[in-house]
Amino acid sequence: MQPWNTFIEGDNLEVLARLEGPFDLVYIDPPYNTGNDFAYHDDIRGAGGASRHQAWVAMMRPRLEAARALLAQTGAIYVSIDDHEAAHLRLLMDEVFGEAGFLAQIVVNLNPKGRQLGNGFATSHEYLLVYVRDPRLSVLQASSSETVDPADFPQRDESGRRFRHLPLRNTNKKFNPVTAPTLHFPIWGDPVSGRVRTTPFDGAEEISPVFGDGQPAVWRWSRPLIDKRGDDLVCRTIKGRDGARVDVFQRDWLSPGRRKKLPTIWLAEEVGSTDTAVAELKEIVGHVFESPKPTGLLRRILATMPADARVLDFFAGSGTTGHAVALQNAADGGRRTCVSINSAEPTRVGSNAHASGLLTVADVTRARLRAVAAQVGGGLVELP
Ligand SMILES: C[S@@+](CC[C@H](N)C(=O)[O-])C[C@H]1O[C@@H](n2cnc3c(N)ncnc32)[C@H](O)[C@@H]1O
Repeated sequence: MQPWNTFIEGDNLEVLARLEGPFDLVYIDPPYNTGNDFAYHDDIRGAGGASRHQAWVAMMRPRLEAARALLAQTGAIYVSIDDHEAAHLRLLMDEVFGEAGFLAQIVVNLNPKGRQLGNGFATSHEYLLVYVRDPRLSVLQASSSETVDPADFPQRDESGRRFRHLPLRNTNKKFNPVTAPTLHFPIWGDPVSGRVRTTPFDGAEEISPVFGDGQPAVWRWSRPLIDKRGDDLVCRTIKGRDGARVDVFQRDWLSPGRRKKLPTIWLAEEVGSTDTAVAELKEIVGHVFESPKPTGLLRRILATMPADARVLDFFAGSGTTGHAVALQNAADGGRRTCVSINSAEPTRVGSNAHASGLLTVADVTRARLRAVAAQVGGGLVELP
């Protein structure tokens, strides 16, 4: 079996140049250029304004280009960023991946209490930019089975299978007999037996699609689809604005593996926060990294790609991505693999990491991924 995790120490630009692709999913959390996290060009550390951004973009551009070259045609990239470089990163990603590859700029609520330091607003979010290599070939599913709530499917059939009633009528006013004439036709339904057909039958009433205000509407299903799946439709008497009326509903089943579209705001209570991420890291190796991401964030990202995805994180830090890959494989039997890269950036003298003998960030990444292999499984290959 392929080991789930691989760690490579080195400057990512140099490592990416000799790495063999393709990868299905790239996740990166680069330095945010906050003023003290970006040691790429020491001479511009103190610089303000445009040159700071230019230096950051100059550092990122070749790395993103290398990432694109390693990405499968069906693949996707997610990049974490905050307000310092969000605007510059967005434009850079448009250049490297093409505007057509843009999928979303997700708001991630990683600090629910909000940043209390400094003036201004208590910033409580950062971003996740999502781009695909080729929108026509992408296999990214912007949905998850985790977010499906059984309570949204309150009805049950005789065997206990859960479902909900959705109006067969298209409730979007954009769709009406003028814009979708082929979907405006009468059907027949019996509110006693619930039966629905496209032709008259004994006990049936003729039903035409109407909006709540009585204006003509259209169905969501064509006549052939209603003929084919009539048993998934039910005719019911409901209380409308002007008293009781008969309408037609689709039985929408809660089938195993059902997914729900993901919104573009991800809450800390769903994916974790920086605080919960620190606690997770503390649990497995200690409080040895200041700003890890929660594994829940990475697991939601992983859930948008196939369960055998080859994952790459070349700003690995404390190794959250590799940890999440192992947790997700253990949970769903997936065969994901993850290559994590981090440089031998020294840890700060006096920091917990340094005091525990983890003298570089690469030591921190390795320590976590070793603990993950021991506790969750899947193995770890370490390359110098
Ligand atoms: C914001 S942290 C990533 C944190 C990570 N997502 C986590 O959850 O722990 C960025 C990391 O990139 C690493 N790094 C910065 N420049 C690098 C480079 N050129 N090559 C490899 N790693 C680099 C830093 O050492 C740092 O650990």
